[in-house]
Amino acid sequence: MENFTAYNPTMLHFGKNVTDKLGETASQYGKTALLIFGNGSVIENGYYDTIKNQLKKANIKIAEYSGIRPNPHIEDVDKASELCRKENVNLIVALGGGSVIDSAKAVSVCAPENLKVWDVVKGKSKPTKSLPLIAVLTLAATGTEMNPFAVVQNPETSEKIGFGGPLMYPKHSFLDPQFTYSVPKNYTAYGIVDLIAHSLENFFGYGHAPLSDRFVASIITEAMHYGPLLLSDLTNYDYRANILWQSTCALNGTTLHGRAGGDWGVHDLGHSLSVLFDTPHGATLSVAYIAWFKWLKTKDNKRLADLSKLLFNTENTDVLIEKFESFFKSIECPVRLAEVGIEIDKKQMIFDTFTKNNVTGTMYKMNEADRMFLLENMYSL
Ligand code: NZQ
Ligand code: ZN
Repeated sequence: MENFTAYNPTMLHFGKNVTDKLGETASQYGKTALLIFGNGSVIENGYYDTIKNQLKKANIKIAEYSGIRPNPHIEDVDKASELCRKENVNLIVALGGGSVIDSAKAVSVCAPENLKVWDVVKGKSKPTKSLPLIAVLTLAATGTEMNPFAVVQNPETSEKIGFGGPLMYPKHSFLDPQFTYSVPKNYTAYGIVDLIAHSLENFFGYGHAPLSDRFVASIITEAMHYGPLLLSDLTNYDYRANILWQSTCALNGTTLHGRAGGDWGVHDLGHSLSVLFDTPHGATLSVAYIAWFKWLKTKDNKRLADLSKLLFNTENTDVLIEKFESFFKSIECPVRLAEVGIEIDKKQMIFDTFTKNNVTGTMYKMNEADRMFLLENMYSL
């Protein structure tokens, strides 16, 4: 087992109507809040009014930044940081999915010292303080609600990069499964893929950590059980609650303790696809994982067999690949690039972006030939 530090300071409030205490909680941190959200789903579905009323009841002044896009852009982070400085904001309330919460985390470390987010991402600026962040999650997928990471894209350089540090943990996260009822079927399914992918990235990291292996297998087993149930009954509280809690646990440290870090090669492949084609994050992962499993079979079939044994009680890794492929198909997630509209004429451009972005993975390093193998399998050539 590798050395590790277990630290997670986010206070998580989970369940029906937990946001009833958001105003009171927020008032401990500041008097002027930045309320940051996406493209309107939170207004349509009433969550915006609920949260705004909470802040008003607690006499908190509100500055608003809306329009955060899926696969969030650095331009919005810099503009929202500017707004924080202009309005003397001392607290951030993020209302939305991973893109909104990630943007809010980035703002929280950029605003206090007037830093440009891309300089922080690239390590040219090192934040030393952050504004307190309260997250209200509306989509089960990323685990950002209880971790210190954010992912942003720079469309000018075609890069989408994750970064983070202890300053970026939310102080509080409010998770009411009812806030996820309105997530459409496709994004619900992408979220299920994403939580499975986080479990897998950690499983394939460096180090022998059998308890973490079993946590991974349990989360994936639960997701494969509850995912299809939820997709046939989108407003079932228990199904929503189970998927939501699984997504938090997949990337809040639970699946990593005892390992030196996850692999994250599949996420890197996926981020390049998102930045090129604006493909939803989860949809990139269901395509990339099937190809990656086929590649890993040639590199370390033994480790793949460990997973197969835990999940499906067989060391036959072809069975594992078949089971994942049919599961992703059963929840209507893509397993080949053509299914997300990425045709063969884009092959060279994707390959060049993988190379430019140095998509390598951590535990299982990919070279140019490996990336071509993966790409061809994503096309099924
Ligand atoms: O923009 P709005 O109107 O809010 O609509 C969003 C968006 O169109 C909609 N949505 C969210 N909650 C909803 C809802 N629609 C109806 N009802 C609701 N309750 O869903 C769409 C997608 O939202 P987004 O926030 O982009 O989805 P997700 O939560 O999957 O976040 C994806 C982003 O998180 C990053 C990804 O790379 C991607 O940029 N990740 C962050 C991680 C982290 N911080 O730890 C780890 C992950 O691996 C991931 O990379
Ligand atoms: Zn992810």
